[in-house]
Amino acid sequence: MLVGREREQATIDALLEHARSGISGTLLVCGEPGIGKSALLRYAELTANGMTVLTASGIESESDLPFSGLAEFLEPVRDLIPEIPGPQAAALMGALALGPPSGSDPFAIFAATLSILAASAERQPVAVIIDDLQWLDASSERALRFASRRIHADRIAILLGSRTDVDGTPFSQVPSASFSGASTSRLVVGYLQDRTDHPSRASWPKASMRGPAEIPLRFSNQESC
Ligand SMILES: Nc1ncnc2c1ncn2[C@@H]1O[C@H](COP(=O)(O)OP(=O)(O)OP(=O)(O)O)[C@@H](O)[C@H]1O
Ligand SMILES: [Mg+2]
Repeated sequence: MLVGREREQATIDALLEHARSGISGTLLVCGEPGIGKSALLRYAELTANGMTVLTASGIESESDLPFSGLAEFLEPVRDLIPEIPGPQAAALMGALALGPPSGSDPFAIFAATLSILAASAERQPVAVIIDDLQWLDASSERALRFASRRIHADRIAILLGSRTDVDGTPFSQVPSASFSGASTSRLVVGYLQDRTDHPSRASWPKASMRGPAEIPLRFSNQESC
């Protein structure tokens, strides 16, 4: 039972409900240690009924292991790797140490991440829930950022939790990110507005091809984590 988090819970409810109805979004929960970020993420996990829930937590001692976070949250949907384009599958297998190192550029791995999330969302809506983003390895963070900027009408919700007291919190440094204001605490919950409508997305996987969807909620307060 969370005390005094009705507003934040409602924002998470909306994120999940929009994803179920085909409007993707990325929500960042950030704040100081102990403020209740993980508790909110657990709430999301428990309420993500009817969704495929993919989780990972950044671990300080593993933050220099490329793609260790990606390996964690894609583990439940590995069976979909054969369904994505071959070069992407090979690149992803290499990145996750499930196949020979492919020597691919990161784009193939990032595109594979997007493809596999989209393929999973074809089966049922997806909730990607990443805690302690400040310690996620940089490669996984970039893959997530790549995906979050390109999900549109894909039934995908991405929920990120991050401390504010650690330098280099990557998502919070996205210049166009805007967040809802927190009223009673230093916990900030808000949608990222870092999106792309780059023309080349037409050649990307299904996740990018179904047309843009407006971000479900926008907030006037500009805050940063
Ligand atoms: N709204 C709340 N109502 C009741 N208990 C809460 C609430 N939010 C957090 N807690 C409790 O406070 C403690 C700290 O919360 P939590 O672990 O979620 O913090 P955190 O922001 O993730 O901290 P850290 O940055 O160290 O990971 C936990 O025991 C949690 O269950
Ligand atoms: Mg926590």
